[in-house]
Amino acid sequence: MTVLVVIDEGSAQAKATYRAENGAVLTRVVPSRIAEQAKVDINGYAESAYFTEEGGEYTVNGDFDDIIRTNIPSYQTSEANRALVHETLRQSGFAGRSVRVAVTLPMNQFFSKVKGDPINQKLISSKKRNILGGIKSAAGHQLAEIIDCKVYPEGIPALFDTIRDDSGALKPGFDEAMKILVVDIGGTTTDVSVVTPNGTIEAYDSFQTGVLTIAERFSELAAPEFGIKRIPRAMAEEALKTGRLKNIEVGNLIERASRTVLKTILRELEAMVSSPTLLDKVLIVGGGASLIGEELALELGVDALIPEQPDMAISRGIYKLETIKNVG
Ligand SMILES: Nc1ncnc2c1ncn2[C@@H]1O[C@H](COP(=O)(O)OP(=O)(O)OP(=O)(O)O)[C@@H](O)[C@H]1O
Ligand SMILES: [Mg+2]
Repeated sequence: MTVLVVIDEGSAQAKATYRAENGAVLTRVVPSRIAEQAKVDINGYAESAYFTEEGGEYTVNGDFDDIIRTNIPSYQTSEANRALVHETLRQSGFAGRSVRVAVTLPMNQFFSKVKGDPINQKLISSKKRNILGGIKSAAGHQLAEIIDCKVYPEGIPALFDTIRDDSGALKPGFDEAMKILVVDIGGTTTDVSVVTPNGTIEAYDSFQTGVLTIAERFSELAAPEFGIKRIPRAMAEEALKTGRLKNIEVGNLIERASRTVLKTILRELEAMVSSPTLLDKVLIVGGGASLIGEELALELGVDALIPEQPDMAISRGIYKLETIKNVG
């Protein structure tokens, strides 16, 4: 059977989940930093440079500053997105192999608010078509052959990952009647939804704030302290993860930068769920959960779940959903 690779390709990073040849389930993260140019290095075209059948040139690489925007709707069906998916497959060792992929769309794009038409089929089809589109490695390497593509909404699969075991059964402590608030704090978007364990959506909303907002604020605060004009995004993101910048402890600045985003999320949640305490649990995922998840839970006063590696939760959840489907 063709191997399945789940790629939750968010605006900040692509998160892949797949099974290695020895049976272990592995994950890999590739930053969503794409330049619209085939970059050259000492050996010729960069390993991560691509030519699309439409004539586009792209390079996926963590360190560029001339990167395209990944948090706008058109990115979801763009050649740049196709290049990122292929680069993630290449880095995960699938070059030259046939794969099925599952990718994601933000909840507010996957679902439609149009009555009688709850799922945005047109956008989903065009995302699939785009991923299956033609692409070549600029350096002449073999690429993975994507033979099928499925599209999942972000958000809900994270709940599946957290509350169900590998056979799909509810873990102890959960029951079907629960209402769970899922907060996915991504790079540029925070998705919130109220979902039941079987996946029925009671409410959802998305707003524009996230870890990259914290990274920007952090750069503004840290640059003068370090006597520089600006801090490159990759460096700021790294500092948020390690708590250090140029080996200097910057926890205090990170906390100050986080506060604004935390406040925005609390305000938006208040508008959506009038009394969070009526909810049974809150699940906090996305890279932002590592940074401000605990504080958010404290402020909400609801029993909170923050899974391990919360940025991988959606990718892991889709992998679990797909695996269970193929067994049953
Ligand atoms: N432990 C951590 N500490 C700090 N930041 C982290 C940590 N883990 C991940 N991040 C950062 O969190 C950010 C958001 O990650 P995530 O994968 O949730 O975003 P995304 O899905 O790409 O974005 P979006 O959902 O908005 O499209 C990334 O910039 C990532 O570098
Ligand atoms: Mg995301």
